[in-house]
Amino acid sequence: MDKITFPIVEVDKNRLRGIDGAISYFFEITPIDLSQLTEKEIEQVFRDVGMFLNTIDENAFFKFYSLGGKAYVNSSVQDFNQLKFELGPSDRPLQTFFGSIDIFSDVSIFDDYLLYNGRYRRVLSVLEFGTDEIDHQFVPNGVDYILNIKRKSREKGIRGLEKIRSSHLANFFRPKRDVESEGAYHQAENLIQELMLGAESLFDIELFFVLTGQSLDELNSKTADLIDGMRSRGVKLFIEGQSIKKCKSGLAAMFRELIPGVVPTLLSRVHVDKTSHLKFLLPLNRSHLMDNGIAFEDNAGEQIFFDPFNASIPNKNMLVTGASGGGKSVFVNKLIFQLAKKHPTVILDKGGSFKRITLYHDGVNISAKFNPLQFRDPLYLREMVLSACDKEHFNKLERGRLLKSIRAIVEENPGPSNFFDFLKLLECDFPGISLYFEDVAEYLSDEKIAETPILYVDVADYPQAAIAPLIIFILEYFKNIKNPEKILVFDESWSFLKHHADYIDDCFRTFRKTGALPIAISQGLNDFAGIGGKLYSSITNNSFIKVFFPQECIDDPEVSEFDRKQIKSLRFQKGVCSECYVKSADNRFRKTMRLYLSPLELELFHTEVGEDNNFYKFYQEYRPFFDSNKETINSYVRLKYGEV
Ligand SMILES: Nc1ncnc2c1ncn2[C@@H]1O[C@H](COP(=O)(O)OP(=O)(O)OP(=O)(O)O)[C@@H](O)[C@H]1O
Ligand SMILES: [Mg+2]
Repeated sequence: MDKITFPIVEVDKNRLRGIDGAISYFFEITPIDLSQLTEKEIEQVFRDVGMFLNTIDENAFFKFYSLGGKAYVNSSVQDFNQLKFELGPSDRPLQTFFGSIDIFSDVSIFDDYLLYNGRYRRVLSVLEFGTDEIDHQFVPNGVDYILNIKRKSREKGIRGLEKIRSSHLANFFRPKRDVESEGAYHQAENLIQELMLGAESLFDIELFFVLTGQSLDELNSKTADLIDGMRSRGVKLFIEGQSIKKCKSGLAAMFRELIPGVVPTLLSRVHVDKTSHLKFLLPLNRSHLMDNGIAFEDNAGEQIFFDPFNASIPNKNMLVTGASGGGKSVFVNKLIFQLAKKHPTVILDKGGSFKRITLYHDGVNISAKFNPLQFRDPLYLREMVLSACDKEHFNKLERGRLLKSIRAIVEENPGPSNFFDFLKLLECDFPGISLYFEDVAEYLSDEKIAETPILYVDVADYPQAAIAPLIIFILEYFKNIKNPEKILVFDESWSFLKHHADYIDDCFRTFRKTGALPIAISQGLNDFAGIGGKLYSSITNNSFIKVFFPQECIDDPEVSEFDRKQIKSLRFQKGVCSECYVKSADNRFRKTMRLYLSPLELELFHTEVGEDNNFYKFYQEYRPFFDSNKETINSYVRLKYGEV
């Protein structure tokens, strides 16, 4: 076991001073998610990175860090204008590197691993790169590494290459061809040209991977995985160590050089690299959707976050589409499950997909009666009356007359509180109008519905005639919720709105302006057959965020070839996981999200008919023994799965 002398004597915010007096700076880079870019956009990114590399100061050093999924750079220069990435000073370089506040002076060095902060670490250096061309997927995701680079002057680079060229020229005088030397000659020749043109530069580089494990076993298995993974990419790794028996030495010195602020000597593990290769080694890629929000996975299993209320989304209208059974309702359940705690929610369901989360959150299920006069906005009341009437009797003129009468009635003080009294008053101008509501009379009441975390309606609980009035009522209830960050879920109930396209269009427009989150769920254009394309295009055009589940034909001009490709490759494994593709109208978000469900989530979100029998049986029998719905349901899940 060995210990290292700590090489940094001063840290002032992001400025470091080494024991040798060298000053350097530490910055955090915000990488971009290349999986959300088209091939052309990726090419442009790396063209820019190449330009940055070709212009960096030859006297400066750069140490790029990929640590815990974040990226940093430590350099003797402070100016990174050429690197077209978001970049800012990072004030705690040593804590960032060591992963803790105080223990970095206590690093124990063993045969071929280190121990600090109670974690086992191993340093692996690159002994040899392969000869194949590489791309941005060359360095595996999620592995910490440090890349030291220093640009060689053009003259030095050319001189080195000239040597290769002339050693081959000497072969001309030999009787036999030397193919290998010829290859090297041509490569050197081409590279010299590119160096002269400034399209390439040469660099001294070192690449070290640092693996971490809770135990030595874990560390060993990670090491084996990395060595295998890199071997398949043509890279030979070397485990740095400190053991005469294993013919290893220098781990202490090597590790010391990895610490931010230490000027890399670029001696023992150095390679000469060129811009077009090196640009893919920088830690500039990450899988990322939003900084925080609801946790999902990407399609490689890395955690990503999605927050429909993210401040950068100008209007929250969301459209979720996909073929039947692909996971739409389950996905929206997941959103509501997390968001309902903070955001009042109204759910218009068809078939009970959201019934169990409503129960879990102590929401109100209006399966019986509602009072249309709970709200008195004349435009709303006119729509309510029209929802039960023969549409052909109400042309534009009649609709205007109706609005006038309604205004007169609601302006009366105090005005009626029973909807049939209200209709009676309307009878003066519209004789017989009450009769339209005879069919739904048993669903109307004088009671008001109080505000609740979730107001839930399953249209399947109502007869045909009551559904349109009910939906008009629900939309008005939603409009009247004070919290601007409220949520409306509209699952598959489009066909009931045949005659209200304009009204719904207006509602969604208003929601968009006020910061609410309306989530429209649909299997696609067919849902709107008979309603006219107007409502569909109004919903589609007004949705800034679109979430696609697997589906065949997509009738949406905003969906590009890139999007289609992503949607085509979505996977779905019933009972295991679902995938969807999220796209924003401005294309800033274009990401596949994967959803795994916990036992509790599966019990609450699944939509399998009959599979909730035991759930409700347990709930009805045992609810009196628990303090809340939540506790009752959690207990059921714990009993069934052994965990929540
Ligand atoms: N992420 C997931 N993990 C595991 N199982 C899932 C997941 N998503 C969906 N399922 C399963 O697939 C079934 C169908 O999903 P869901 O009801 O969400 O489809 P849908 O797109 O809403 O269909 P429809 O258009 O017919 O309403 C669910 O009952 C559940 O069993
Ligand atoms: Mg559904």
